[in-house]
Amino acid sequence: MQTTLTEKQFKKLASLVYNESGINLSENKVSLLQARIAKRLRATRINSITEYIEYIARDQAEYTNFIDGVTTNHTFFFRENKHCEFILKTIDRTKHLKIWSAASSSGEEAYSIAVQLLSASYSFEIMGTDISATMLSIARKGVYPIERAQAIPADMLYRYFKKGMNDYQNYIKVKDEVKKHVTFTRYNLITDIAADTYDIIFCRNVMIYFDQQTKMKVVANLIKALKPSGYFIIGQSENLLGINPGLSSVTPSIYRKGS
Ligand SMILES: C[S@@+](CC[C@H](N)C(=O)[O-])C[C@H]1O[C@@H](n2cnc3c(N)ncnc32)[C@H](O)[C@@H]1O
Repeated sequence: MQTTLTEKQFKKLASLVYNESGINLSENKVSLLQARIAKRLRATRINSITEYIEYIARDQAEYTNFIDGVTTNHTFFFRENKHCEFILKTIDRTKHLKIWSAASSSGEEAYSIAVQLLSASYSFEIMGTDISATMLSIARKGVYPIERAQAIPADMLYRYFKKGMNDYQNYIKVKDEVKKHVTFTRYNLITDIAADTYDIIFCRNVMIYFDQQTKMKVVANLIKALKPSGYFIIGQSENLLGINPGLSSVTPSIYRKGS
């Protein structure tokens, strides 16, 4: 039974991950990959990494689970909410807004935007996308442990979420009146091409996992899906240094299409 990654196996798996998702697992991520593989070995009851590598080469479903398992999905309600406050302050509410939450993880980003736009009587639709099928399924359900509701302002929590009962006592659920504005679908930022165009694209806290070349490709593709003068929003700890995709900077993490 071999459950410790060799250098060769790390390189092989890191290259699969890079080619599929753009996620750049540098040498210092050995223990992270090791831990995530260990989970998949337990789930599949496979005894060795060698066997697991052979298995994902022939089993598409497990290959997808493997990629899913190496994504980092950390997110929370009202994260970096200055971006949404900017929208509420800047964009007039007479126009119907099409918004894309690219890399939406388990949906908190999309629902946080939705409840604020609803409160301010905007007409809008939001598409949330992610590479991880597991995260998309959580997002579609819209059910979250109650402790994750802490950052949601009390009035919005009361108005747009239901408290669970019985087995779901410690959970909240997004109400249908919010959910009807939000759809979730799988979209791989490095291989898929959007079929629609948007007024605002949020692409936050995912490009930190990409190298410069991947970032350039991802941003160029997303910008094609942005309407003229549309807003492109990245995470506050991210930057577009060295990338010149036809955007002008509004604040350090908010860009606008065109000059
Ligand atoms: C840290 S979460 C960010 C969630 C949210 N945007 C936020 O700022 O809180 C990063 C997400 O990017 C997704 N991701 C990673 N690579 C991706 C790719 N190539 N295409 C689409 N999503 C990807 C992961 O599955 C993960 O859910």
